[in-house]
Amino acid sequence: MKTSELSGFYKLTPEERMKIVKEFANLTDEEVEYLRKTGGLGLDLANRMIENVVGTFELPLGIATNFKINGRDYLIPMAIEEPSVVAAASNAAKMARVRGGFFTESTPPVMIGQIQLTKVPNPEEAARIVLERKKELIQIANEQDPLLVKLGGGAVDIEARVLQTERGPMVIIHLLVNVLDAMGANVVNTMCEAVAPAIEALTKGKVFLRIVSNLAIYRIAKARAVFAQEALGGEEVVEGILEAYAFAAADPFRCATHNKGIMNGVIAVALATANDTRALEAGAHAYAAYGGRYKPLSHWSKTVDGDLLGTIELPVAVGTVGGITAVHPLAKICRKILGVQSARELGEIMAAVGLANNLAAMRALATEGIQRGHMKLHARNIAVMAGAEGDLIDLVAARLIAERKIRADRAKEILEELKKAGITKP
Ligand code: MEV
Repeated sequence: MKTSELSGFYKLTPEERMKIVKEFANLTDEEVEYLRKTGGLGLDLANRMIENVVGTFELPLGIATNFKINGRDYLIPMAIEEPSVVAAASNAAKMARVRGGFFTESTPPVMIGQIQLTKVPNPEEAARIVLERKKELIQIANEQDPLLVKLGGGAVDIEARVLQTERGPMVIIHLLVNVLDAMGANVVNTMCEAVAPAIEALTKGKVFLRIVSNLAIYRIAKARAVFAQEALGGEEVVEGILEAYAFAAADPFRCATHNKGIMNGVIAVALATANDTRALEAGAHAYAAYGGRYKPLSHWSKTVDGDLLGTIELPVAVGTVGGITAVHPLAKICRKILGVQSARELGEIMAAVGLANNLAAMRALATEGIQRGHMKLHARNIAVMAGAEGDLIDLVAARLIAERKIRADRAKEILEELKKAGITKP
């Protein structure tokens, strides 16, 4: 009987683990060979990053072109499996250039750490005591990372509020930490854990959770761009995009997809720079709902000249130092391609790319529809899946598109027909 109960699996080498997985899943030698290929990351490094490693997992890395942000030209590395996203970002960036490109700004990189204080006799009183003693609590927090403090960061403030919950009132304390160029979760968690005993002693309560919040409302990146009407394709296109935006602003079902289109760009840059994509997703969607109703992360309006003005703001808990951002060789190279000097700059770039992808998606949706652009690459993928190689990939893909049937079974039929007819070249 196969069992997944593998005690000591973590102690094995990747090669030993691979043998067990091979047997468990009946992998072929060829499949194992694929797993062994590790690209730029390398097995040793991967094995030190997470547990139970057997290999690495690759994604395509594309470069979005045409980006001008705050007057400077950028090439933007994007790691993503979805066709069209890199092309869409590049196209939108090209359109934005007509009116000077993207302009961005951001708040200082302040993250929130949460401390959950319970079982206090008087919650209001406990919150008051915590605020009264904030100076010494901040000092305890800052003793955890003298280097961060020396560089100009560290804990900067404390907030406290009483939260009514199904288990009664709790005091929720927020430790605000300027994390400089780090993503910040580690330092914030360490600081929260360090101040918790002092908070318990001061309030006679019991602390349970001590953890960073991904709703990073104090670490916001903003971007804006004007898209010239003629670059977009005329007045009707502008109107169509405004209709699309109004739909998203009024309807959560549409809004989720609207924001997903933004995150296509944000997450692709995050992956290329080895940032925590789950933290970004959680933060972005929670921020979109922060006002009590789920809203678009972007805003679109018409300028007096009839152009389209787009703005975006979202939390960007990203780092350029610490964590794997500083270790992953490909992430380091991607950062070099970007030429970013700080986490703030990286966050602002992500906001600009998100805005670009949002514009491109709405423009496509409001005009020819999203499928045409998507379908070209998708059809090629389907052709490859059906077994096409070399020039046959494009031949099969072209037929699939012409017939508007992007399906593997049809691809196989077309491939057979072409082979029988001896056609191997366009
Ligand atoms: C697809 O990955 C993203 C879009 O659905 C975004 C949108 O609908 O705005 C095209």
